[in-house]
Amino acid sequence: MKLFRVIKHALWKAGFMRRTGAPFWVVRAHFLSDYFHKHFGGCREAGRRHRRARDDFRRSSRHLDFDDDWFSGSVPTLLRAVDKAGLGQREGLNCLEIGCWQGLSTNFFLTTLSGSRWTCVDTWAGSDEHKSGRCATQQVLAQVEDTFDANLSGFRGRYAKHKGTSLSFYSLSAERGPYDLIFIDGSHHSDDVIVDAVKCFEMLRDGGLLIFDDYFWTYYEREMDNPAAAINAFLRLKRQCLEIVCFDYQLIVRKLSSSSRRDSG
Ligand SMILES: C[S@@+](CC[C@H](N)C(=O)[O-])C[C@H]1O[C@@H](n2cnc3c(N)ncnc32)[C@H](O)[C@@H]1O
Repeated sequence: MKLFRVIKHALWKAGFMRRTGAPFWVVRAHFLSDYFHKHFGGCREAGRRHRRARDDFRRSSRHLDFDDDWFSGSVPTLLRAVDKAGLGQREGLNCLEIGCWQGLSTNFFLTTLSGSRWTCVDTWAGSDEHKSGRCATQQVLAQVEDTFDANLSGFRGRYAKHKGTSLSFYSLSAERGPYDLIFIDGSHHSDDVIVDAVKCFEMLRDGGLLIFDDYFWTYYEREMDNPAAAINAFLRLKRQCLEIVCFDYQLIVRKLSSSSRRDSG
């Protein structure tokens, strides 16, 4: 029964990737990364360490005020990418987060990357999905920015807020980059995700990591309106300039330096 479910889910994912325009090398990267880490990740010391870090983060974040945890399940994938890019021990990392909500992901990054500084961009007005469903209560939306501030009160001086859309940030941001790590988790409509992808990649340092949350998210009825359609288009455009580092539910790419870019021929 379990095997049947796994195969059915894999077939759905392959179909979804094809319909949203994923090139073959992206499909292959997903199935190699996802299959290996789901089934064998825990056999390696690094995999066990990343899972312990996820459990520790879940315990330590119990004192924070948040309504939903959409984030901590991704901790092992994020740590694997950070290790691969050698960012874990680096001091003075300049990082950007698009879409912070109540600050759970920001809290994790500030705790884990102890030498990092973050620019946090959000409207703090919620996304389409917050306008229906459990998070849509006026009370949660009315307090979301105050909750973010309270959850990050221990990190004053290590982050700066930009309150507004990511689009409004890009026109001001030229002097703030380049960034070593960027986490994109703002609006999930593909029209916005493609802009976030292109602008954030432009602001990323060579060797830096760009993290897309929610690749397999299917909130919008028209599949091409979901993040995957935009991420796939971006990957096609920039194939020569990036490599996929990890790809489970999140997709994480590293920007290649100009000398190591692939030949476009
Ligand atoms: C899924 S939540 C972020 C969750 C958070 N990263 C975490 O893991 O805890 C998406 C956030 O994006 C914000 N947002 C939506 N559209 C945006 C836009 N165009 N520009 C900036 N932020 C936006 C929403 O206000 C919301 O706080």
